[in-house]
Amino acid sequence: MYKSDCIILAAGKSSRMDLPIGKQFVELSGKPILYYSLHKMINNENINEIYLVLNEKFIDYCRDNILNRFFKNHNINIVKGGESRQESVYNALKVCKGEYVLIHDSARPFVSETVISEGVKYAHIYGASSSYVKPVDTMKINLGDKITTLKREDMLIIQTPQCFKKEKLMRAYDYVNENSLCVTDESSVLDLIDEFTYFYLGDRYNIKITTKEDLDMGEVILKNISRRDYSEDI
Ligand code: CTP
Ligand code: MG
Repeated sequence: MYKSDCIILAAGKSSRMDLPIGKQFVELSGKPILYYSLHKMINNENINEIYLVLNEKFIDYCRDNILNRFFKNHNINIVKGGESRQESVYNALKVCKGEYVLIHDSARPFVSETVISEGVKYAHIYGASSSYVKPVDTMKINLGDKITTLKREDMLIIQTPQCFKKEKLMRAYDYVNENSLCVTDESSVLDLIDEFTYFYLGDRYNIKITTKEDLDMGEVILKNISRRDYSEDI
């Protein structure tokens, strides 16, 4: 069976949310957003070790309110986050020991078991995998002097999970760090050294909670996914 370690990113500041606490700790249907992705990863048979990346200031808060409350009997490794998402990932990569690593944003609580398992499988086959969804809106680009329409059929909206042979991702990160480049995800890190990533179709329920409106949408999704295969355990 394909296996991978997992990095869950939860060290962000949620600046687009304007709340007194980070969005990862906000509750949806009575459980913190971070609970949902942790629960999915812990219960996925393709996932080995879990590395949870947290802002240093919230490690005790998270232990008291999430880890000791919901995951008392599970070993979850805690890693200190960095200023950017990129630094947070790199901090975790440095301590993660497995041959494969799957990276997931805690801000995507509705990730399905299938999307996780396929990510691990495709990383074993191709060395790197990323989930995506297709845009449904008309897509345009602002070129400065004009705004023009893009071919929607050719466009991909990139999500997490993304899974990698760790050695390959580390090589790409070395390049990014040496050249002080900024990225918003790991498939872009591989792009920069011309390494192949296999993109597989994910799930439109796997939204990233980013603004306050997404909290309302999250509640609706939680009510509805109970009809689907992966959610009876939420
Ligand atoms: N993240 C992280 N470390 C950082 C920044 C982000 O671990 N320094 C994590 C977030 O916790 C989140 C994921 O990366 O789960 C995706 O980032 P995003 O949705 O941008 O979250 P925030 O950075 O917290 O939000 P914002 O950009 O609005 O401040
Ligand atoms: Mg951010």
